[in-house]
Amino acid sequence: MDRPKLFEPLQVGSLKLDNRIVIAPMCQYSAQDGQMTDWHLMHLGHLALSGAALLTIEGTAVTPEGRITPSDVGLWDDQTEAAMGRVLDAVRSWSSMPIAIQLSHAGRKASSEVPWRGGRHIAPHDPRGWQTVAPSAVPLSTGGPTPAALDADGMARLRESFARSARRAGRLGIDAVQIHAAHGYLLHQFLSPYTNKREDAYGGSLENRMRFPLEIFDAVRAAFPEERPVTVRVSGNDWIEGGASIDDAVRFSKALEERGCSALNVSSGGLDPIQRITDGPNYQVPYARSVKQAVSVPVVAVGLITEFEQAEAIVGTGDADLVGIARAALYDPRWPWHAAAHLGGHVRAPSQYLRSQPRQYRTLFDFDEWAEN
Ligand SMILES: Cc1cc2nc3c(=O)[nH]c(=O)nc-3n(C[C@H](O)[C@H](O)[C@H](O)COP(=O)(O)O)c2cc1C
Repeated sequence: MDRPKLFEPLQVGSLKLDNRIVIAPMCQYSAQDGQMTDWHLMHLGHLALSGAALLTIEGTAVTPEGRITPSDVGLWDDQTEAAMGRVLDAVRSWSSMPIAIQLSHAGRKASSEVPWRGGRHIAPHDPRGWQTVAPSAVPLSTGGPTPAALDADGMARLRESFARSARRAGRLGIDAVQIHAAHGYLLHQFLSPYTNKREDAYGGSLENRMRFPLEIFDAVRAAFPEERPVTVRVSGNDWIEGGASIDDAVRFSKALEERGCSALNVSSGGLDPIQRITDGPNYQVPYARSVKQAVSVPVVAVGLITEFEQAEAIVGTGDADLVGIARAALYDPRWPWHAAAHLGGHVRAPSQYLRSQPRQYRTLFDFDEWAEN
């Protein structure tokens, strides 16, 4: 049987990926003052044993005001860096899986309750809330506080905040950065004409709307160790009339590639509750394919990829180079093991779990070296 494409290695900059499965970023809303807790140790710890090629740390705020909720993880000061360092040290003691981090700022979607408490906006005068910022003073269509439009000083501070967080991530030995420019957060708000009503050099044409996200990319790229990849999560469709389209995402992706972006992760939606998403298996794959046809760096497809053959077909046909899985990895943290068993691939596993290898799959596991000693 041919080696499954899903289990072929791939080099992304200095990063050697064992296979084509990446764990997508997933906010856990379980931090205290931006600091990771033992929940993150358990959550990232078990996903680091999943056999995926790369584990992406959840959307991590570059400033306290950039958090979606008061319980988001951040990387903006020595305390948040130390808390993340503690979790990473523990996870890395027992897993060799490379770890990426998603750096984010929520913009007008900040200052909200956690989803399982309804996700409503927390007003700036509430002791747990704060004034949100955005490219323009456009509130979400469901109401809530009006964000303050960012001025030149605010934008300069944010460029510096993204760069500082990237420097901290580099110091922590994180293997790659993913900048969040999708799901309706700050950089997506700049990119979309639905949320960006600016009349200066940062609004209007796509060239202008891309300007700030590209400046953030340059700031992060310059601050993160040169040999390690900086990647971007882009949005293929706002699912809103008058929103950004896949053509915008393709042009943005090409501009990013020209500036040294190492890979693109193609998602969609999240800009405003007015959106009308038609989802189903592979629903974002056509956007990944469009980006892939326009760039030469690796492209990740994500979104309702839950079946092994489905994932193999996405990378096998060349629609994307990698697949991202999120909910499937929570539901079945050994999804990559099961995919390898089903398709005839190999996964890295800890020696402590040697005896779990089912008899019919005797060659399933490659063992982490130190665990064998
Ligand atoms: C619990 C949870 C938290 C998420 N948090 C983030 C996040 O921090 N950043 C992000 O870009 N996407 C986030 N997402 C979206 C996922 O990364 C992914 O794009 C989406 O769930 C679609 O993939 P799936 O169908 O495999 O779940 C989250 C999804 C879930 C289920």
